[in-house]
Amino acid sequence: MHLENKIAIVTGASSGIGIEFSKKLVSRGAVVYGLARRLSKLQEVREQIGNKFIPVQMDITKPEDISNWALSTFQDDHLPHILINNAGLGYFGNVEDMSVDDWNTMVNTNLNGVFYLTRKVVPLMKKNDNHCHIINIASVAGLLGNPQISGYNATKFGLRGFSEALFKELRYHDIKVSTMFPGSIDTHFFDTAGGSGTHANMLQASDVADTLLYLLETPDNFLINEITLRPLNPKNPDDL
Ligand SMILES: NC(=O)c1ccc[n+]([C@@H]2O[C@H](COP(=O)([O-])OP(=O)(O)OC[C@H]3O[C@@H](n4cnc5c(N)ncnc54)[C@H](OP(=O)(O)O)[C@@H]3O)[C@@H](O)[C@H]2O)c1
Repeated sequence: MHLENKIAIVTGASSGIGIEFSKKLVSRGAVVYGLARRLSKLQEVREQIGNKFIPVQMDITKPEDISNWALSTFQDDHLPHILINNAGLGYFGNVEDMSVDDWNTMVNTNLNGVFYLTRKVVPLMKKNDNHCHIINIASVAGLLGNPQISGYNATKFGLRGFSEALFKELRYHDIKVSTMFPGSIDTHFFDTAGGSGTHANMLQASDVADTLLYLLETPDNFLINEITLRPLNPKNPDDL
């Protein structure tokens, strides 16, 4: 896909890899609707990258709000080409210490939120004469279960299943579906997640965003449906 003048939706655009995705898409000439709850952060992103980035205050756990926004934003002559389901969070800890609220917040954000938005965007993409692309941001935690991240694992494994089914459902409508499975990335994710997921040699958001561009810019009949990203050496280089 050529990204110039394409219309993209990026969730979680107020922080971390969502900002980098938005920056790189705008640098290629795309228009980006950046969704997140913190409007002030989204406005800072707009100040940095310009008015091709459109801040949208949205809590993706609210299906009605998503529905109303999609209805009021898109019409037959203004249809989305790209959806990046990126917003997500984790709460880490032993299963007996995890609150029902934290479990539900992870499921509502990482899994239900993806469904609420995707179900509204797919009909718009089906109307689009151009090829379209949905990219879901899972995690290596969508491939491997590990102690203290059971809830997060459950949501990201769920996202993998949703994505694989969707890839097979939408391929004959000229809609690509890809899932990214990154290892630890240096973002604000761990500020709230707790646990010991950080290390001194994490992936950089900008490199993850370059991979996203690569997936998007492949030829129309070429699909990378899953891709795993890891630091080659997760140890602190100063300790070697
Ligand atoms: N960092 C890592 O090590 C890592 C590794 C693998 C995968 N991932 C995945 O990568 C994605 C992005 O994470 P990140 O590392 O960039 O973390 P981050 O810096 O904490 O950013 C998370 C983003 O999600 C948004 N968000 C959270 N709940 C939301 C909601 N209910 N509605 C709308 N937006 C919401 C946040 O915006 P607001 O707070 O403004 O709403 C923020 O923009 C997540 O899906 C995460 O699971 C991260």
